Amino acid sequence: MKKLWYKNAIVYSLDVETFMDSDGDGIGDFQGLTKCLDHLSGIGITCLWLLPFYPSPNRDNGYDVMDYYNVDPRLGTLGDFVEFMHQARERGIRVIVDLVVNHTSIQHPWFQAARKDKHSKYRDFYVWSENPPKFEPKLLMFPNVEDSIWEYDAQAGAYYLHHFYKEQPDLNISNPAVREEICKIMGFWLELGVSGFRIDAAPFLIKGIGIKSADREDLQGFLSEMREFVSSRRGDAVLLAEANVPPEQISAYFGKGDKMHMLFNFLLNQYMFLALARREACILQDGLKTLPDLPGICQWLNFVRHHDELALDRLSQTQQEEVFQAFAPDENMRIYEHGIRRRLPPMMNGERRRIELVYSLMFSLPGTPLLRYGEEIGMGEDLSLPGRNSVRTPMQWSDAPNGGFSNAPANALVRSVIAEGEYGYQRVNVATEQRDPNSLINWMERLIRTRKQCQELGIGSWQILETDEPCVFAHCCESQRAVVVLHNLADRACSVTLKLQDDKCLIDVFGDRQYEPLNNDSGSIPLEAYGYRWFWMNQM
Ligand code: NOJ
Repeated sequence: MKKLWYKNAIVYSLDVETFMDSDGDGIGDFQGLTKCLDHLSGIGITCLWLLPFYPSPNRDNGYDVMDYYNVDPRLGTLGDFVEFMHQARERGIRVIVDLVVNHTSIQHPWFQAARKDKHSKYRDFYVWSENPPKFEPKLLMFPNVEDSIWEYDAQAGAYYLHHFYKEQPDLNISNPAVREEICKIMGFWLELGVSGFRIDAAPFLIKGIGIKSADREDLQGFLSEMREFVSSRRGDAVLLAEANVPPEQISAYFGKGDKMHMLFNFLLNQYMFLALARREACILQDGLKTLPDLPGICQWLNFVRHHDELALDRLSQTQQEEVFQAFAPDENMRIYEHGIRRRLPPMMNGERRRIELVYSLMFSLPGTPLLRYGEEIGMGEDLSLPGRNSVRTPMQWSDAPNGGFSNAPANALVRSVIAEGEYGYQRVNVATEQRDPNSLINWMERLIRTRKQCQELGIGSWQILETDEPCVFAHCCESQRAVVVLHNLADRACSVTLKLQDDKCLIDVFGDRQYEPLNNDSGSIPLEAYGYRWFWMNQM
């Protein structure tokens, strides 16, 4: 079988500006990141997803790009990028980068030319209207921040479309010249060695809202065009789309295996949090069953948290309320209409066994796991920061000032480091945890090692296993071998029995503690409160 590397990758996402500052200006940079590659390879990361690092006025944390062919000078130079790529490759780490082409920054030269001159070739790069149509409020991506998806531009004498901030005008994907530019951008970064792209805001790219002449099929076809282009330039490069859409729309992104390789698993993420809130497995089972079957080369990217809000919009209002009550009881912990702006450990009240449970679960769900910087050490959030910045504080490397992130004075940092309380850098940091054999980072390293040994979780076919305990989620992934995994979502110990074929036995590989080897006669499998166990299923 062709080796599909991404199916068993361990992906790690980070924002260069908050990872490591090498020159003491308070902003993380590529030279700093390069120095930290040994940390990443040490814990077993095999693929990095870099958030946008391009020149940007930073209205939206770099998701407002003003030059697609460069590195934000605050973060370094193209030379630094290439050196970083070389060092990553030396360690067997692949790199995928954010491709933000649903919109540009308002400061991008294309938009500047478009607004100035009606006859410029760039005018039709964007979506204009003299009389903007009414829009559905659900199209507003940042409700309470923006109140329309149309903004009047006096210089242009017309309104332009923007689904996100008004400083992010949407590109007109029905224009072949725009598509050509997008391919050129991908071609550029592929030549510099990246292994693929995270396609930002994919649904908006292909919906064609506001584009009068838009032909839906043609727009959706652009995903195949991107795929064709990328594969022709680099056979093993992947496209990973950010598309939080209902199950019936998912096939528009995977196609017949000829569009996106991977999609973030937003659906399962939301069902997972509901199951955790209820301490019951059945909603997670429903979630898995809701996912459509995927074409062979396609894959889900599973995650606990990423840099945005924890979106709950695929759950019903009552279900959302359950998750809010359990994990974000205060108004200040929530954002937009359906989101939570917290990291996992504080959501779990810092309970180590429950934090382990969640990561063990996410790493064993069918698909590829994604970790976000700081998750390996259990970083918390800073709710005093506005909006999504609460979960975007600098990486905590040591108990040195600024958590070892930067030598700059604390008030010069790109964002303040968490310096107080249970999650302050004095307690939660890489160096301290590395010295402690029982720390989260050492546990995480073991989890990653085990996940790498259980490749069936990435490539196998999965099956939900019935148990006699509603709080236990049990599943099995099988290709040449089979892995059986149990998670007890409840705060009480229990035992379950599984219906296995008579000639099969289970051998422990990983768990929340060392359990007695199973006695195959009784068939009963004990689990601690919030306990988890991974097994090989062997022939007796
Ligand atoms: C999704 C990104 O993850 C988010 O951070 C950003 O604000 C929007 N897309 C707009 O680019």
